[in-house]
Formats: sequence, structure tokens, C-alpha cells
Amino acid sequence: MRLKWWFVSSLTLCLCGIFIFIHTQAASTQAEKVAIIAHRGASGYEPEHTMQSYLAAVQQKADYLELDLHMSKDQQLVAIHDYKVDRTTNGTGYVKQYTVKQLQRLNAGKGSKKAVIPTLEEIFRTFGNRTNYYIETKSPHEYPGMEKELLTLMAKYNIHTDHVIVQSFSPESLKTVHRYRPTMKLIQLIRSKQTNMLTDQQFRQIKTYANGIGPNANTLTKPYVQKARSYDLDVHPYTVNDEKQMRTLIEWGVTGMFTNYPDRLYNVLHKE
Ligand code: G3P
Ligand code: CA
Repeated sequence: MRLKWWFVSSLTLCLCGIFIFIHTQAASTQAEKVAIIAHRGASGYEPEHTMQSYLAAVQQKADYLELDLHMSKDQQLVAIHDYKVDRTTNGTGYVKQYTVKQLQRLNAGKGSKKAVIPTLEEIFRTFGNRTNYYIETKSPHEYPGMEKELLTLMAKYNIHTDHVIVQSFSPESLKTVHRYRPTMKLIQLIRSKQTNMLTDQQFRQIKTYANGIGPNANTLTKPYVQKARSYDLDVHPYTVNDEKQMRTLIEWGVTGMFTNYPDRLYNVLHKE
């Protein structure tokens, strides 16, 4: 009888151990597979595209700082989302009408917070290879040469190619980067209306220059994620701020996501 008890207890302990081991392994593998992309920095906490939002993102263990790039009148790359400065600063007008000096006189903070529009050069100088960058070429047709300038700055600050992903809605811009730097990881952004519309031929075409797609999270479906994954394309939906949606997308097999709250995604991946 005692032998039977000993056997049952040992077997139960052993099975529990195996379960915990498998669960922990699965959780850590999953966490490694899903990239935390801090959308405009930790922009849920700090004014978007400011050094404050990037610092918060690094502190919250984001894998990538997401940057939207435009060009100033004097041809410098600056991190700002819109064509115009109106929404995010106390100024008005188009980014390209301002020199960097003029742009940096504007306040990119919110309320009483003071912040400056950062140049890409300042961002690289501040963070170097201590983080990774997920860089969007915004409106590349407006700023001819922006891809070359990005690569020039990477070289100047010795930013390694494997620390950078370039994303764009423009296939031409991505193909330009691909021509200059075939090893650069590229993500083709997909507009909301086209999210579930890509044909097999389009997937194959994207695969010729890009490593993945960035679809809108709200129009995405599980079969579409699976289809993209079957082409071995990464799937990085934007922009996911709700933990429940994060869990669903992870279950569907996405390989990263853009979020204004990197800490939330970190907790979903590492603490559940
Ligand atoms: O870059 C991914 C996502 O940021 C695209 O949308 O408008 O926030 O740049 P947007
Ligand atoms: Ca973006």
C-alpha cells in the first residue's frame, strides 16, 4: 500500500514538473518570437516621437523604437508622424517648409511638457546599437533621396543592419533600400482596406523584396495571418493597445506588433 502511494505521488510530481517545464519553455519561445515595437516610442505615456517617449520605450523593454521619418527644408531626416507640424506641436505648416533649427524651436510636448522634434542623427547618437529601430519612410515621393540619407546616417553612427527594420507603405521606397542594402530587413505596410485582400501573386511579389507585412490589426483575420506565415513572411500588425487583442493576435501567430504601451505587451508575453 505504502509503495503504491509512493509511486502515485512520485508520478504526480513528475507529471507536474513536465507540465511546468513545457509551459515555461512554450512561454519563453513565444516571447522570443513576438517583437515589441514601441509605436512612436511609448507614446501612450509620453508625447509621441520625442526623446522622452523613446527613453520610456527602452525602459519598458521594447525590442524596437518605431520612427516615422520626414525631411526638413535643409534635407535632414526628422522623426515626426504627420506631413504637417500642426497636430503634434505648437506650430503650423508642412515639415518640409522648416529648417531643422526652426523645427526644433517648436514645442512637441503636450500641455506643460516641453519636448523637441528629434532628428534621426540625434536618435542614433543617443541610443546607438543599444536598441533596435523600426523606421518608416513616410511619403518618400516627397523626399527623394531619403533612403540614401538613412543609410548614410547608419554608417556614420555605426548602426548595424541587424538593428534596423525599414517599413513603408511604398513598395518603391522598400525596393530602393533593398537595392542599396539587400540584407536589410523590410516590412511592407498594408493599408486597412487592403488588409485581407492580398492575392497569392501579391504575397509572392512582396516576398521578392520584403521579409514581412504590417497590416492594420483591426481588419486582420486569423486565416490571413496564417496565409502570410505560410509564405514565411513576418506579420506585425499596427496598432495594438488592448491586452485582450494582444493575446488573440499572439494566438493567431503574429511575429510582433506595434503598440503605444510596450509594457502591456511585455507583461502579456513574459508574465502570464
Ligand atoms: O508603421 C506602422 C504604423 O505606424 C502605420 O501607421 O500611421 O501610425 O504610421 P502610422
Ligand atoms: Ca508608422
